[in-house]
Amino acid sequence: MGKHWGDFQYEIYLNGMTGAVPRLPTDLTRLEALVERRLGPGPVGYVAGSAGNGSTALANRAALDRRRIVPRMLRDVHERDLSAEVLGRALPAPLALAPVGVLSIMHPDAECAAARAAAAQGVPYILSSASSTPMEQVAEAMGDAERWFQLYWAKDREVTRSFLDRAKASGFGVLVVTLDTPLLAWRPRDLDQAYLPFLHGVGTANYFTDPAFLAGLAKPVHEDLNAAVLRFVGMFADPGKTWPDLAFLRRHWDGPIVLKGVLHPDDALLAAEAGMDGVVVSNHGGRQVAGSVAAADALPRVARAVGDRLTVLFDSGVRTGDDVFKALALGARAVLLGRPYVYGLGLDGQAGVEHVIRCLLAEFDLTLALSGHATPATVTASDLEESPA
Ligand SMILES: Cc1cc2nc3c(=O)[nH]c(=O)nc-3n(C[C@H](O)[C@H](O)[C@H](O)COP(=O)(O)O)c2cc1C
Repeated sequence: MGKHWGDFQYEIYLNGMTGAVPRLPTDLTRLEALVERRLGPGPVGYVAGSAGNGSTALANRAALDRRRIVPRMLRDVHERDLSAEVLGRALPAPLALAPVGVLSIMHPDAECAAARAAAAQGVPYILSSASSTPMEQVAEAMGDAERWFQLYWAKDREVTRSFLDRAKASGFGVLVVTLDTPLLAWRPRDLDQAYLPFLHGVGTANYFTDPAFLAGLAKPVHEDLNAAVLRFVGMFADPGKTWPDLAFLRRHWDGPIVLKGVLHPDDALLAAEAGMDGVVVSNHGGRQVAGSVAAADALPRVARAVGDRLTVLFDSGVRTGDDVFKALALGARAVLLGRPYVYGLGLDGQAGVEHVIRCLLAEFDLTLALSGHATPATVTASDLEESPA
């Protein structure tokens, strides 16, 4: 029998006997509005904002909302087990925290707080290349808990190679390569405030501590921040990369590699041919291409195309436990949680992130059980129907 995540509700009710209520809402869709009220407009705009007019972020939600669960009755759901094997790892639930950069704009404890929360709940933490804390420090905060590294694939081969070596040495077991950000997108909420933390040397910690990056600077970062920022901006991403370039990563990383940002079934097939282990069906939470296909609409097509050749993960729009259920029914092996944990961090540090993880998994556990499933493995497309638009 696995852990019954849903029992979190009894803990809350029992604490209530002494007059205590949760510090944050248990309906995670309410976090964004709270953050909008409590945090500064720059950071909030950066996290909540999307590309263009926000149409893709809205479409992500609509695609999940449109699909409705059809619960089944009289199935034994007394003993439940949410555990899932993902990329050869035994996880307590089909969930990981998505890579989100620059977390120091949300909370001073930044990535270490999020990573500790993930570790405390047994959920993998995916550290962004653009973190505000060097990867070695995040690894130290996590002990031997499961951690993956997200690569922004730099123009400079030596820096990329150095990142991979450092990530490996720091115990990051899976490489998540984000393909959808070869350029920064048109993001009006950031543009209207001229807010881009990287230009102030925030979110550049992995670069500013990297020997290969520093070797290209005439002066140390603290003596010439502008030169360091310029070098970062010039190499951060590479719009010239194509599929054959993946061979370089395959050569320099011996663990699983997952490509994040795949939406077209043909790209998923190319990933399989390039020797990759998985894909994350994701549109970066609507932050890159406005007017893009919703991630949940792309998911079943990608899952069908790759069958069991690749591990299919999903993000973009996951807010609640029933969203996790729907993503699995649409063909995902596991989901990545993005903005909600970042809001939890902004509102209450590590405790806020733990609250978000526990609420999400409690709701998922109960949704699963109340829909007639004792494990995620039995959830299929036949558990959903599409409501008319
Ligand atoms: C503020 C913010 C920063 C992000 N930074 C990164 C990043 O550094 N690397 C990356 O691969 N994805 C990044 N993402 C995308 C997330 O990994 C994930 O795909 C996205 O948050 C999913 O959408 P959702 O949060 O709306 O569910 C970022 C997302 C947000 C909101």
